[in-house]
Amino acid sequence: MYVNPRRVKKCQFVQIFATCFILCLMFWGPLDENSVVSHMKSYSYRYLINSYAFVNKSLSVNRDNLDRVAGYQYLINHKEKCQQQDVLLLLFVKTSPENSYRRDMIRQTWGNENYVRSYLNANIKTLFALGKPKDPIQRDQMQKRLQMEDDKYGDLIQQDFLDTFYNLTHKLLLQFSWVNKFCSHAKFVMSADDDIFIHMPNLVAYLQNLAQIGVQDFWIGRVHRGSPPVRDKTSKYYVPYEMYPWPAYPDYTAGAAYVISSDVAAKVYEASQTLNTSLYIDDVFMGLCANKMGVVPQYHLFFSGEGKAIYHPCIYNKMMTSHGHVEDLHYLWKQATDPKVKNISSGFWGRTYCRVVNIMLLCRLYYRDTYPCLAALT
Ligand SMILES: *[C@@H]1O[C@H](CO)[C@@H](O)[C@H](O)[C@H]1NC(C)=O
Ligand SMILES: *[C@@H]1O[C@H](CO)[C@@H](O)[C@H](O)[C@H]1NC(C)=O
Ligand SMILES: *[C@@H]1O[C@H](CO)[C@@H](O)[C@H](O)[C@H]1NC(C)=O
Ligand SMILES: *[C@@H]1O[C@H](CO)[C@@H](O)[C@H](O)[C@H]1NC(C)=O
Repeated sequence: MYVNPRRVKKCQFVQIFATCFILCLMFWGPLDENSVVSHMKSYSYRYLINSYAFVNKSLSVNRDNLDRVAGYQYLINHKEKCQQQDVLLLLFVKTSPENSYRRDMIRQTWGNENYVRSYLNANIKTLFALGKPKDPIQRDQMQKRLQMEDDKYGDLIQQDFLDTFYNLTHKLLLQFSWVNKFCSHAKFVMSADDDIFIHMPNLVAYLQNLAQIGVQDFWIGRVHRGSPPVRDKTSKYYVPYEMYPWPAYPDYTAGAAYVISSDVAAKVYEASQTLNTSLYIDDVFMGLCANKMGVVPQYHLFFSGEGKAIYHPCIYNKMMTSHGHVEDLHYLWKQATDPKVKNISSGFWGRTYCRVVNIMLLCRLYYRDTYPCLAALT
């Protein structure tokens, strides 16, 4: 029987495509039909409109309503923390009063200013940003403990709002107003969760390079493009139509960890003073502020968002951040700072070996929330 070879190719192509599509649907985890539809809708929306100027306009508040500009009072502050001239990175860790164990782990590992100064030859300033304890019964006692912790380490900044999920935007405003007032000369500002790992040697080397070029309008992290607001009332991230009526948010970086240059920090601060702060999802709010000022985020493939890195020396070689670490911070920090681990991926054979390993680790058919396949290829 004669078969037209071109037809075969076409058939095969359609077949492969269909298989991939079905596999994707099967393995994509808990995406139900509804969310597939809303993602498709929001994604097309994002590419159809090319400006979110109407969002900007409708969420802007007029000057009369800006009593909150004064913001909340500081309960604990360190105005002098950033006085030194040459600060490469001001690092905010978003934490909660009860998470003292996490803060200790971070002080011993990637948030350690002394290590970064002595071994990486850079000045970073680490500050933990928090509100006041939410449990009224234990509040006074917890506050005393925080005060003691701060007497010892001098690295907490706390304002007089309740430390709850729905007050996260206030925590964001705390960070940006602190930068604006006390540390506008830091070259870069980072905001990170307290259950994250940051590969400081990689990050500092990367930022030192950028600082030399004098980079501006810089904003990197795990970018969410055209994300739809969650309309499911049972979700923690539920946003009512009254608060945000459009089908997609402007692009923004996951709040788990992102880095901006100081000019962006100033712009976002300025915008935050003119937008309605009732939107409680802090990273989305930050995206709205940046969008108002015309700043666009860039995707760094080794920033992980919600995902966790795979444990492997070839991954550590390029990793910037990974999410969901507390108990294993010491292990990861050892891997990040041990020259023997770095050595595995150096030289021609090391690089080739790691290229292959990374493709095997990251380019899988089934979905796994870690770095994207593209990260293995670059
Ligand atoms: C946002 O709105 C302000 C006025 O409210 C305007 O000056 C600014 O250019 C707008 N930004 C964008 C990106 O459209
Ligand atoms: C946010 O903090 C303020 C000030 O402490 C408090 O009155 C308010 O109830 C908090 N909001 C939420 C949703 O927790
Ligand atoms: C901010 O938006 C909310 C609705 O999400 C609205 O109730 C409130 O009045 C707005 N605030 C200002 C100052 O416009
Ligand atoms: C790194 O590997 C090279 C050989 O590839 C070896 O000579 C060197 O001693 C190693 N360095 C460390 C710190 O293990």
